[in-house]
Amino acid sequence: MKVLGIESSCDETAASVVEDGHKILSNVIATQIPFHQIYKGVVPEIASRKHVEWILPVVKQALKEANLTIDDIDAVAAANRPGLMGALLVGLTFGKTLAWATNKPFIAVNHMLGHMYAAHLANTISYPYLGLLVSGGHSIIAKVTGFDELEVLGTTIDDAVGEAFDKVAKYYEFGYPGGVIIDKLAKEGDSNAAHFPMPQIKGDHRYDVSYSGLKTAAINQIDQFWTQGCERTPENIAASFQETAVNILLKRLFLAVKDTGLTTVVAGGGVAANSCLRAKLAARTDINCIFPPLKLCTDNGAMIAGVGYHFLKRGDRSGWDTTAKARVEGFRKGVSASQKAKFQ
Ligand code: KG4
Ligand code: ZN
Repeated sequence: MKVLGIESSCDETAASVVEDGHKILSNVIATQIPFHQIYKGVVPEIASRKHVEWILPVVKQALKEANLTIDDIDAVAAANRPGLMGALLVGLTFGKTLAWATNKPFIAVNHMLGHMYAAHLANTISYPYLGLLVSGGHSIIAKVTGFDELEVLGTTIDDAVGEAFDKVAKYYEFGYPGGVIIDKLAKEGDSNAAHFPMPQIKGDHRYDVSYSGLKTAAINQIDQFWTQGCERTPENIAASFQETAVNILLKRLFLAVKDTGLTTVVAGGGVAANSCLRAKLAARTDINCIFPPLKLCTDNGAMIAGVGYHFLKRGDRSGWDTTAKARVEGFRKGVSASQKAKFQ
């Protein structure tokens, strides 16, 4: 079964054809980075307009690279939540219209389920496992028992980890997008140049993380935490910030590994591309950690097609009245995403 997957939740216009939820026949990602770069962050209105301009050529390219025509496609899937409303609406409306006009089933996909599935496109992974979903909008530690069954154990109580990377990079004018630039700078820096404090979260937050304190420390209070004699270079700031950002996640993740006894960890989302996170997890030889290939960490259509295939196989379909949602209730702590993340 060949599924066309469309993703337009933020600043990438992406489309892909995936066969049987596993074999990527094409994966086209048109990035809008140059258009947002001058504003040092994503401008939602520009993102929506670029999606409108690019969606048709990107989908055509995905079919061309797969050596297929629309007649060869069995179903269309599109990300409809969470993300930028105007941006999501473009891919969703395009996908629904294409499916309706060609008489094919349509599947709306939660883009975070897509990120969780990305590693499955390149690996055979069995459930259950611990999911680490880390992106510009989410920092989730979850128990994953199926492609749409996520029980959120912990999440951020304020900023998402990717958001912290982006904000620190923006403040120090390292460039956009922040995560990948900090990652690169950090390779030349000293992670001991500053010792930022770890968050102390009180109460029922065993697996929760917090990034607003680190962000404030790195931006407004850096003098307080700087090691005397160390040079205040972008590389040193990046390395010290990244070290703490990753340690915050891992501290909670390792607790979840210990408590649940689940030793397979599957990562997903843009921050899963981070080299420090990858290296530190790889160093834990008692944990089987699976990362998506770099190209599948950030937003892409293949992960949407992959999830779409499994819904389709189960007999699920989305109605023509399916709409987009900027936020998703299902990814709160204590709420099983499988109940909430299906078809509203
Ligand atoms: O998954 P994604 O493409 O979009 C969202 O769903 O948010 O993730 C984008 C986020 C951004 O915050 C970006 O700075 C971060 O992922 N990111 C990274 C790296 N590559 C992308 N963060 C740290 N290290 C990286 N190498
Ligand atoms: Zn994403």
